[in-house]
Amino acid sequence: MGSTQDGVGNGVEAARKAAEALTYSSGFGNEHVSEAVPGALPVGRNSPQRAPLGLYAEQLSGTAFTEPRHHNRRSWLYRIRPSAAHPPFYRIDNKHLRSAPFTEAVPDPNRLRWNPLPVPQEPTDFLDGLVTVGGNGDVLQRTGVGIHWYAANRSMTDRVFSDADGELLIVPERGGLLLRTELGLLRAEPGHIALIPRGVRFRVELLDAEARGYVCENYGQPFRLPDLGPIGANGLANARDFLAPVAAYEDRQEPVEVVSKFGGGLWTATYDHSPLDVVAWHGNYVPYVYDLHRFNVIGSISYDHPDPSIFTVLTSPTDTPGLAGVDFVVFAPRWLVGEDTFRPPYFHRNVMSEFMGLVEGAYDAKAEGFVPGGSSLHNMMSAHGPDRETFDKASAAELKPQKVDDGLAFMFETRWPVVPTTQALHADHRQQGYDAVWQGLERHFRA
Ligand SMILES: [Fe+2]
Repeated sequence: MGSTQDGVGNGVEAARKAAEALTYSSGFGNEHVSEAVPGALPVGRNSPQRAPLGLYAEQLSGTAFTEPRHHNRRSWLYRIRPSAAHPPFYRIDNKHLRSAPFTEAVPDPNRLRWNPLPVPQEPTDFLDGLVTVGGNGDVLQRTGVGIHWYAANRSMTDRVFSDADGELLIVPERGGLLLRTELGLLRAEPGHIALIPRGVRFRVELLDAEARGYVCENYGQPFRLPDLGPIGANGLANARDFLAPVAAYEDRQEPVEVVSKFGGGLWTATYDHSPLDVVAWHGNYVPYVYDLHRFNVIGSISYDHPDPSIFTVLTSPTDTPGLAGVDFVVFAPRWLVGEDTFRPPYFHRNVMSEFMGLVEGAYDAKAEGFVPGGSSLHNMMSAHGPDRETFDKASAAELKPQKVDDGLAFMFETRWPVVPTTQALHADHRQQGYDAVWQGLERHFRA
């Protein structure tokens, strides 16, 4: 069951009131069923001759019709007007949003780091507040990722957005978000993630005066839960902790701007009604939220620590078994108990490329310079690891059981190098001299 969407444009207070009243349907990849008005869902078929309550039936496919059942994602929507009833779209300026292929700057082997994106002074909503860091692949080939920051200080009110180029994994770092989607409402606070599937229309309303965070625009296969192998039937991100919305619709007959990202460009059309008019739906192609604090962290109870793939929350597979287009990985509070073990992340060079962000607290491989809202990019084969201070401390530490409980860092780990945008390379908030954190790692060798 669901409800009518209310409180459009009434500001932060109305958005928070709506967010606090939300109910959800739980699970990952399962078949959800929801109707905002009793009797709105057809029974026993998807496309009856006349859908209940005078609604239009419409299928939204997130995978090819013919993909294997366990990969297949689609939902049936029962809406006041069909999505097909719209005027032409026209190109508008992308502002700071960029797309693959990324060709503005040359691929850079250097390790890059940024301070948080400043929150804008002028009125800026989520869509206008997107600033692309970089990415890889090709949107028209449905491969690769775009990595973005966002910073906003106002809600989207009279417009909605959808992204045909990829799904959007939103990682709030500051300020809560109310996501009004075609399938219903979701609340995403810092420490949560939200996922908007490719093509699903949504509006972002702010639950606080300011909002800031990160977005992984995944052009590739939809994120799914990783296989668990010998871990067993439970663990890491548990399916039941993913929350999908229940049906909630707007019945607005007034101009609403619909912005669509397609082929890297932003396109706009003004509808004479809100497209968030889905009264009932069923299916497994859904937006969702997940609280990263629910992540079941698994690690070593003997020596060494596993590779960070053990912290994978979601993975977007490729046609090569075991190779992700992008993994979303979280470094959540956990106990470190390894004996005779260097406990922070080890020094490494990785064929995969690592974009990191920090949502809360501190990250255990960097003593300073990496603050909430900050970012780092360690591209393919770039050498990185603990900074000098962390190395010195961890090499001398008494190896008692130790709780790492002051941080929530994450990584978008992709199969191809992330080519930065020129705006990210030349941004005022880029840290110059990041290499210095590894200076002074002394020579200890004794033959
Ligand atoms: Fe790394």
